[in-house]
Amino acid sequence: MIKKIFVCVVIVAFVLGIGLMADAIHEIIPSETIIPVPGPDAEKLNEYIVKYNPYAKWNLWPKKGRLYKGTEPHGALLTTFVNDTAYYSIKNKTGMADGSIIAKENYSADKRFGALTVMYKIKGYDPEAGDWFWAKYAPDGKVEASGKVKACIDCHGKKKDNDYIMTGDVKKK
Ligand code: HEC
Repeated sequence: MIKKIFVCVVIVAFVLGIGLMADAIHEIIPSETIIPVPGPDAEKLNEYIVKYNPYAKWNLWPKKGRLYKGTEPHGALLTTFVNDTAYYSIKNKTGMADGSIIAKENYSADKRFGALTVMYKIKGYDPEAGDWFWAKYAPDGKVEASGKVKACIDCHGKKKDNDYIMTGDVKKK
């Protein structure tokens, strides 16, 4: 009898354990299906790159370290993260594929985090200007600019033949 109860307890504990573990794993790696891939929406994009697919875990821009020297207007020091789609686009120099996200942390010379600027490629969103969705966030995540931002496009437009990208060549010459 005691043995039977013991076996039951072990089985229940085992089943519960698996359930809890699956839950915990789900918390850490949400399945693709429950990650809401954002459209051209700055709030949703921020939620996506902070919560669902945290940019801080992405690759850095190839061959750039953290806090490398930047220029105006972005900041004296920059750390640039790229999602997988962007990373392989840069590596293969094929131009930036649909779904590429580049998230750049902008710092002052004394390493104070000033803003996060993001470029997100959404096919069909803005064919006139490389289909980029532009966004700028304050350190607390507040949206400071987003959409087809003229200032961003005007300056990055100098590199129109490089898919509006300034940091390095993303196309074969
Ligand atoms: C006056 C020119 C200028 C303006 C305006 C500007 N940028 Fe940039 N941006 C640059 C330069 C130059 C770089 C390369 C890094 C550096 O040297 O600072 C860059 C790099 C970037 C990058 C890294 C990918 C890349 O293109 O190299 C992102 C993302 C970015 N900018 C977003 C934005 C957003 C969003 C805006 C508008 C809110 C904006 N930028 C406005 C000049 C500009």
